[in-house]
Amino acid sequence: MFITFEGIDGCGKSTQVSRFESTLKERGVSFIVTSEPGGTKIGQAIRKILLHVDNAHIVPLAELFLYEADRAQHVSEVIRPALEAGKWVICDRYSDATTVYQGVVLGHHEKLIEQINREATLGCQPDITFLLDCPAEVGLERIAKRDKNDKKRDRFERKTLDFHIKIRYGYLTLANRYKDRFRIIDSTLPEDRVARKIREIISPYLPC
Ligand code: TYD
Repeated sequence: MFITFEGIDGCGKSTQVSRFESTLKERGVSFIVTSEPGGTKIGQAIRKILLHVDNAHIVPLAELFLYEADRAQHVSEVIRPALEAGKWVICDRYSDATTVYQGVVLGHHEKLIEQINREATLGCQPDITFLLDCPAEVGLERIAKRDKNDKKRDRFERKTLDFHIKIRYGYLTLANRYKDRFRIIDSTLPEDRVARKIREIISPYLPC
């Protein structure tokens, strides 16, 4: 099984990924948890460039190619070998993030993004994608609470409310287009209820 988690910044993904990890451990599933950008050593170096506040002047195409470079390395080095070994792969953000984030930034380059996503993922498509959905205001509020000091925020977390609203609707549009794969979870609900909903959806796939 290949499961991805997506959502706007501050949607509660990291918390739910780690809760999901505990469920899989309890159920004796053999799995790995990974994330993008930065799921490999090379990816870590790319991540630093992408998220550093001093790099706000990066041109949109360079940003797109860096995310895809990170992904190509990650799929070859981590995701595909784990899937081939029969492990579950849980990934915090994947190609949908590029479709949405870089799609919003790059506007009309949808076909280009689709094409490089296809190349970089080497045919490894998620079986299930959890979209943790909440209003952009809620996400930004959570980020503000987490990092009282604004200096801690990365380049994306510093973007405007309008940007985050566009990202949210970008994800919802994608989830409607790929209904078979996406599961939309209301992440304004209490943490426990969100975790329970995710467990319920995944339980048919778990070993008894
Ligand atoms: P990260 O600190 O990993 O945040 P989060 O916990 O929200 O995932 O930062 C990842 C940032 O990179 C996030 O703001 C979304 C952005 N991003 C893209 O713009 N395109 C991509 O393809 C990916 C994977 C992430």
